Amino acid sequence: MRTEEIKNTMLEELNHVTDLKTLNDLRVKYLGKKGLITELNSEIKNVPNEEKKAFGLKVNEVRTLFQSSYDEIKLKLEEEELNQKLASEAIDISLPSTKVNMGAPNILEKLIEEVEEVCMSMGYDVVDGPEIEEDKYNFEMLNIPKGHPARDAQDTFYLEGEEILLRSQTSPVQVRTMLKGKGEVPVRVICPGKTYRRDDDDATHSHQFMQIEGLLVDKDISLSDLKGTIDVIVKKLFGEDVETRFRPSYYQFTEPSVEVDISCFNCKGKGCNICKHTGWITIAGAGVVHPNVLRMSGYDPEVWSGFAFGFGAERMAMLKYDINDLRVFYNTDLREVKNFDRRELKNND
Ligand code: DAH
Repeated sequence: MRTEEIKNTMLEELNHVTDLKTLNDLRVKYLGKKGLITELNSEIKNVPNEEKKAFGLKVNEVRTLFQSSYDEIKLKLEEEELNQKLASEAIDISLPSTKVNMGAPNILEKLIEEVEEVCMSMGYDVVDGPEIEEDKYNFEMLNIPKGHPARDAQDTFYLEGEEILLRSQTSPVQVRTMLKGKGEVPVRVICPGKTYRRDDDDATHSHQFMQIEGLLVDKDISLSDLKGTIDVIVKKLFGEDVETRFRPSYYQFTEPSVEVDISCFNCKGKGCNICKHTGWITIAGAGVVHPNVLRMSGYDPEVWSGFAFGFGAERMAMLKYDINDLRVFYNTDLREVKNFDRRELKNND
């Protein structure tokens, strides 16, 4: 009788279950260690012998009934739960998307990478140097002793007394590279990097700008090696039909020194705004490394010789991408940055 009672309440209760937690509670209530059905099993010893079999069958029936109803309800509840979850997480793909404002790689950086690539293809290493530099490397070991008038032209930012400064050129990396090379040849490096001078910022000047320094030291290096190397770089950057010309110049760390001009890639020499109607554009200073510089850095000028060059990176990028205000390289205005892509595409046409 008691078994029948348990069966009825059990069915009644299972009928009203609406969540998995209650369902599990019922499983414990009926089939747990001290569950009602489990306890029925232990009552069998009190049942008279002739009824034992019928009793056992009955209890088993209730247990099976519970188990099958339980499984069925569980499946149903789990499915409901999943459906609810899917419904609440549904994505409305008809909603308009939010526009992400995209920038573009900075073309000054791209130009530097291009120079790096062509130089690496000729066996050059790309090296780094400190922006906070010692006077010794920025000037003295480049053959510009204290009190030399050439120092005035560079309007240097001094940080501590007269010895520590923000480098006014990337040329000190030449010295550092040779000192590190300890007389080993060949030396073949380029160093793109930031430089600083006390300038008022405007469309063509900046207190901080980028140079790309180059240095090669080996045996029997002459001005014509320099010319050939510059030619390769320039043609890669501005086109195969662009020519280079050297004009005599003066730098303390090179002898002879030159200014590097390229034929105007825009008007092909006819004269335009870009070349100021001369047909030529200056893009670098360069020369044959001065014997004093080699000697001070541990290379015997009687045995070794070298050339060096220093490109103005902004100037080259401005020319290549038709930019007339160098401040655009350094601002983060997305309207301008976006233009970088457009300028590049135009350039590649
Ligand atoms: N350092 C020079 C400047 O800032 C540029 C330069 C000229 C670099 C001649 C060189 C060089 O390596 O050989 O004006």
